[in-house]
Amino acid sequence: MEHFSYLTPNYARLSVKFVRGEGVYLYDEQGKEYIDLLSGIGVNSLGYNHPKLTKAICQQAKELIHISNLFEVPYQEELAQKLVETSFGPKKGKVFFCNSGAEANEALIKLIRKYFRDQGQDKYEIITFKSSFHGRTYGSLSATGQPKLHEGFEPMLEGFRYAEFNNIESVKELINEKTAAILIEVIQGEGGVNPADENFIKELYELTRQKGLLFAVDEVQTGNGRTGKYWGFQHYGIVPDLFSTAKGLGSGVPVGALVAKNEIAEHFTPGSHGSTFGGNPLAMRAGLVVFEELESGLLNHVARVGNYFKEKLTSLGVGKIKGKGLMLGLELEKPCKDIVLKGLKKGLVFNCTAQRVLRFLPPLVITEDEIDRAVEILEEILREES
Ligand SMILES: Cc1ncc(COP(=O)(O)O)c(C=O)c1O
Repeated sequence: MEHFSYLTPNYARLSVKFVRGEGVYLYDEQGKEYIDLLSGIGVNSLGYNHPKLTKAICQQAKELIHISNLFEVPYQEELAQKLVETSFGPKKGKVFFCNSGAEANEALIKLIRKYFRDQGQDKYEIITFKSSFHGRTYGSLSATGQPKLHEGFEPMLEGFRYAEFNNIESVKELINEKTAAILIEVIQGEGGVNPADENFIKELYELTRQKGLLFAVDEVQTGNGRTGKYWGFQHYGIVPDLFSTAKGLGSGVPVGALVAKNEIAEHFTPGSHGSTFGGNPLAMRAGLVVFEELESGLLNHVARVGNYFKEKLTSLGVGKIKGKGLMLGLELEKPCKDIVLKGLKKGLVFNCTAQRVLRFLPPLVITEDEIDRAVEILEEILREES
C-alpha cells in the first residue's frame, strides 16, 4: 500500500530522519552519525545539546514559557540591548521581536512604509535585488527577487523593484519619487552565497544618503556571528538604518527580530504592529545564551575557523569558493543535487542552493579537526564525481 503523508507536499524531503544531535554531530534513527555542515540552514549556531543553552531553556521552561506582550516580558530588554549594542551602539536603536526571518522582514517593510507615511510622504517602494531571498509571506516574498518563487501566488504586494546585485547603475535606474528604501542581503544566501562587493555596498549606502532613502539589511542568514562578525554589514564599514534577523539568533528556538535606529523605530507606535508569540521568555533566554557565547570567544572562533575552512575548500582545487566566516559556498560547473545525496550516504550533511552551489553553514562551534574530517569526506565525493 502506498504511504500516505498527512503533511502538505511543499518540501522535497530527503529520506533521513535525524532524531538526536551532539555538538556538530547528528544521529539518525538507525544511530548512524553525520557531521552537520548545515545546522538546520544556519540555525543551530551552538550545535546540538549545548550545555548552557539546554540548561537555560530547561530552566526557563520551568519558570515561564510565554506571557503576552500586554505585559513586560522577562529577558526582552536584555536581548534587545545586546542586538542594539553590537550593531548601532548603546541606546542607538530599538528592537521588535517576532518568530522568523519572514516575520522580521514583514515588520521591516511595514516600518519603512510607516516612517514615510507618518511624515506625510507617499514613499513606499523598496528596491531589492535579483536572486535575493527574504521569506515566504506576502511582503517578504514580494521583496524576494526570484520570479519562480512568485509563480502561482500572484498578485504580489505592490511596491517592490528588483535591481541587479553588485550593479549600482541598475539601482539608480529604479529610483523615483516613490522610492523609500533599499533592502539587501550583504551576502545572498539562498541565491547562491553571493557576497556583495565592498565598493557596491559603499556606493549604495552613499546613494541612500543623497536621495533620502532608508538603507535596510536582511541579516536573517548573515547575522548573529555567522560571518565572523556580529552582523554581515560590519564587513563593509557601513551601518544601516534598520535590519532584520532570525535563524541563528535562538540556536534552534524560533526567534526573529527587527532592529531599527531610534528615530525610525519610534514610528511603531502602540498598536501599530505586534505578535502574540514574539519575544517570549524562552526564545529570549536562548538568544541571550547565543550572544553570551559570541561575546566570550565564539565570534573570534568563527572568524578563525571560517578562514581555515575556506583555505581547506580552496585546497581541493575544485570550483569557486565564496562567502565569509562560516557561511561558505562552493560553486560547481554542474548541478549539485546528487552530491548532497552522496554526502548523506557518507555521513556528511550540507545542501545545494542555486542549483550549482554547495552551501556550508555549520554550527559556529565547529573545530578545525571536525572541518578536517568533513573536508576529507567531501574530497572523496568530489573525486568520485570527476
Ligand atoms: C536572507 C533571508 N531572509 C529571510 C529568510 C526567511 O526566514 P524564515 O524562513 O525564518 O522565514 C531567509 C531564510 O532562508 C533568508 O535566508
